[in-house]
Amino acid sequence: SVSLKGKHLLTLADLTKDEIMQIILDAIKLKELQKKGETHHYLKGKTLAMIFEKLSTRTRVSFETGMFQLGGYALFLGKDDLQMGRGETVEDTAKVLSRFVDGIMIRAYSHESVVQLANNSDVPVINGLTDDYHPCQVLADLMTLYEAKGNLEGKKLAYVGDGNNMAHSLMIGCAKLGVSCSIAAPKGYGPKQAIVERAQEFAKESGAVIEVTNDPKVAANGADAVYTDVWTSMGWEAEQEERLKAFADFQVNSELMAEADSEAVFLHCLPAHRGEEVSAEVIDGPQSLVFDEAENRLHAQKALMVALMAD
Ligand code: CP
Ligand code: NVA
Repeated sequence: SVSLKGKHLLTLADLTKDEIMQIILDAIKLKELQKKGETHHYLKGKTLAMIFEKLSTRTRVSFETGMFQLGGYALFLGKDDLQMGRGETVEDTAKVLSRFVDGIMIRAYSHESVVQLANNSDVPVINGLTDDYHPCQVLADLMTLYEAKGNLEGKKLAYVGDGNNMAHSLMIGCAKLGVSCSIAAPKGYGPKQAIVERAQEFAKESGAVIEVTNDPKVAANGADAVYTDVWTSMGWEAEQEERLKAFADFQVNSELMAEADSEAVFLHCLPAHRGEEVSAEVIDGPQSLVFDEAENRLHAQKALMVALMAD
């Protein structure tokens, strides 16, 4: 299995194509072990601090249960549980936590503060979502696509909706692995240009095509996977009303799925809003893999933690 000793996972740009692929393959093995009920205490005696500035269902429960299944222990630290909430610096928090735990997972607003945490930490830092990236989700997404299709290279993923943290991490992960990624977002809601260019650099090496359009049908055309996410992410609630209007033509429904490959799968990081970014018919229909995808958060993150934290 892959070793990422001494590294952090802040974005998938931190990993090579081979490292990402090896995490996916390790995750599939760990999934089998867990299904068979076989003990796999690869992180026996290790501890993970989990800092949450924003809410979470999947990330919290998958990291916490994952750590337990690996023989370790995870501490849930909500935003009101740490002195950081009353002004202790990120630097001091990183230095202190490093003396106690073997890894830190953080979900934060600012990506910069997570970079700062990592720069001051002696133990691996895992990004559990920032305003700009959600790399752990994309490990699970690519794993799910790999399980469904048998391989990744040359596949096409369409992302329809907000050019947010999910769009950014999908572009980078896909570009690394040779999966073409077409993003359709309304004008003014596209992904950050610097991140698109970064992904396009990686794509040159892998042969993937990374493109951004305002037309959902162009993105969905021939796609092997159609992906969407909420129109209003955590932290943007004040814009909800204007976003509902701006995204009205960007729903993933049966009509849009018909533009994709006939065997296309539907993916969503969840939580979802039926009737907004996706119709109930699609997310609850036969093409949807959203609950396998959610489950794979557990397996992919276990593989990631073993790679980062095992002796
Ligand atoms: N997909 C995801 O990260 O879900 P949570 O916000 O529930 O962790
Ligand atoms: N884009 C969403 C993802 C939630 C898992 C958010 O940031 O709220």
